[in-house]
Amino acid sequence: GLPTETVYGLAANAYSDKAVKKIFKLKKRPTFNPLIIHFKNLKDLKKDAICNDSFMKLYKVLCPGPITFILKKTTKSKISKIANAGKKTIAARFPKHKVARNLLKILNIPLAAPSANISSKLSPTCANDVAEEFDNQIKLILDGGQCQIGLESTIIDLTGKPTILRPGSITTEQIKKILKKNIIINKNLKKIRGPGQLKLHYSPGIPVKMNKNYPEKNQAFISFGKKLNKGKNQFNLSKNGNLKEAANNLYKIMRKIKKRNFKSIAITKIPKVGIGNAINDRLKKASN
Ligand code: TXA
Ligand code: MG
Repeated sequence: GLPTETVYGLAANAYSDKAVKKIFKLKKRPTFNPLIIHFKNLKDLKKDAICNDSFMKLYKVLCPGPITFILKKTTKSKISKIANAGKKTIAARFPKHKVARNLLKILNIPLAAPSANISSKLSPTCANDVAEEFDNQIKLILDGGQCQIGLESTIIDLTGKPTILRPGSITTEQIKKILKKNIIINKNLKKIRGPGQLKLHYSPGIPVKMNKNYPEKNQAFISFGKKLNKGKNQFNLSKNGNLKEAANNLYKIMRKIKKRNFKSIAITKIPKVGIGNAINDRLKKASN
């Protein structure tokens, strides 16, 4: 179990088919869904991926940080084909979290690491979440505290016209400014090449209803900004209406609600600006 600034990952030697297979098994992840590979530096990435101009521009400003790049794989890449799900591309990320960076340096190998949750469920944002998800099935969890961001990295496909496959805390606006060109946002579920292949995702395991003004009977309610009346079923993502804080609280609050045995969740409308787009993306998939 590996802490990163976004969410906790389930990490394995990216060169080893045997190690990587364990991830798919533990997560019950379909084998067609490739893993993100975490690198310590650019020099290492260049062995495995073709680093084009757009990538270099973004890398210089945003890395290490909460962004994942889809790039073409080099022919001599030794990354496990199982990790890549047989694709000719690679998803590469340079995590910023100190513990992740130190581990990558000590091991001196890239790590394949998807979020440390059972497939289609909520990502973990603290070490305890990982322990609960897998019981005693994993031998070691590095406790790096509560994740600073709490939502998965932004994923951008740079193998053609830059395309956002998964919105995150690094926003499309930020990326547009750096690349000085238009960015495609992949909203069409049928065409999605990555994170949306699985329709239900980021699920707390109970139904989620979006854009609600009040809860139904026995339903938990998640608000944002101004409070509704107090009640045991009321949870607030951010009393000040701060979207970053809301993103950080989203999974934490959903886990809490599930633990308290509510049978469903209603959530208020979340503004579709900045990281609010990432929150809406996760909610939409969780509500499928
Ligand atoms: O913040 C994060 O990105 C976390 C931390 C642990 O780094 N990781 C994470 O991994 O969210 P995961 O596996 O839960 O999500 C990665 C997504 C998957 O939905 C997968 O479909 C997509 O990245 N992906 C991986 N390789 C790809 C590729 N070659 N082309 C398109 N999508 C890819
Ligand atoms: Mg995941």
